[in-house]
Amino acid sequence: MKQVQIRWPNGKTTRIACGSDWLDAARAAGFAIPTGCMGGSCGACEIDVNGQTVRACITTVPTSRSGELSVELSSDPYW
Ligand code: FES
Repeated sequence: MKQVQIRWPNGKTTRIACGSDWLDAARAAGFAIPTGCMGGSCGACEIDVNGQTVRACITTVPTSRSGELSVELSSDPYW
């Protein structure tokens, strides 16, 4: 299975299978993504993945051409 290397805001780096749940992937890295509705509407779980904002509760770890993804908490949260 394809894997990507993810750099987390807490400084950890993990290898995760593409298609994994973001919240599970973060938990495995000891990082908690804030959540709210868990349905894609509130925006509490927004993270920036290589600079692109995604909602972690409704998306999965994508493939990356470089094999690496850099995750930041969204700098422009809804609230
Ligand atoms: S938890 Fe509300 S959009 Fe993800």
